[in-house]
Amino acid sequence: MKEQPANEMAMLNSAISYVQEVGKLIVDRMKMPLRINEKINHSDLVTEVDLYSESFLRERIKRDYPDHWILSEEANTDTDAYSIMKQPPEGYGWIIDPIDGTTNFIHGIPHFAISIGMVNNGIPICGVVYNPMTEDLYFAQSEGGAFLNSQPIQVGPAKEMSEALLATGFQATDWKPDSVVLEQIGKIAGIARNVRIIGSASLDLCLVASGQLTGFWHDGLYPWDVAAGLIIIQEAGGKVTNREGKPFCLSDNTLVASNSFIHPALLSILK
Ligand code: 2AM
Ligand code: CA
Repeated sequence: MKEQPANEMAMLNSAISYVQEVGKLIVDRMKMPLRINEKINHSDLVTEVDLYSESFLRERIKRDYPDHWILSEEANTDTDAYSIMKQPPEGYGWIIDPIDGTTNFIHGIPHFAISIGMVNNGIPICGVVYNPMTEDLYFAQSEGGAFLNSQPIQVGPAKEMSEALLATGFQATDWKPDSVVLEQIGKIAGIARNVRIIGSASLDLCLVASGQLTGFWHDGLYPWDVAAGLIIIQEAGGKVTNREGKPFCLSDNTLVASNSFIHPALLSILK
């Protein structure tokens, strides 16, 4: 394990305290009636709790790290987050999803997370994904390993697609009868062990990192959905690429993640 720079350790510890603090507030607010707004369509939603969580996190970061930049889902007025990540600002940055899995949150399904990925000159340096319902805290730091609640985690050992449990999800614009994801599931049906649609990309990536899932693919994810999970999987021994098989960048809009062993087979089915 690499000796970690003190400032990056401090950022990771700060992110952990922020997500645990805001997680309690999110769980309290879940008991109250929610105001829900549609974004792209009725499958792409935001609540006032997403906005509250986001402003809480932004304020904490601005207070503690005033010279760092922040990219976050709901405050992103530049709709093209991919182009921001193609030429990321210099220095340290925080990439935030204040609630990942908003539809689960709205429906009271205890599977959503706060995700914070930290980068330096665009390169991921650490990540935190926290499910405030289960209090599961996943985190990783570059060359420092990946952890769930302080225990090291690693990807699962499956070598064959027949042993692989996969997950995916629909981007809002693909939620339609001739969906690309439905076609992809059609190609995988009967080959992999099975497919799950669980509804939180950051947690799906963490489930691959901890070996519960063998692989995950999803189109149209944004940097805030994946910035933390990417480094958590990599540090747990997994692989993350775009659909062409090139190492995943935060400006890519296709993502394939796995325990690495099944990666070539998964890529070739999805082609
Ligand atoms: P969200 O809950 O933060 O919107 C669902 O398959 C996963 O995809 C969730 O992690 C969801 O994040 C994410 N996602 C990203 N972009 C989305 C979009 N435009 N519509 C629906 N889900 C989206
Ligand atoms: Ca979100």
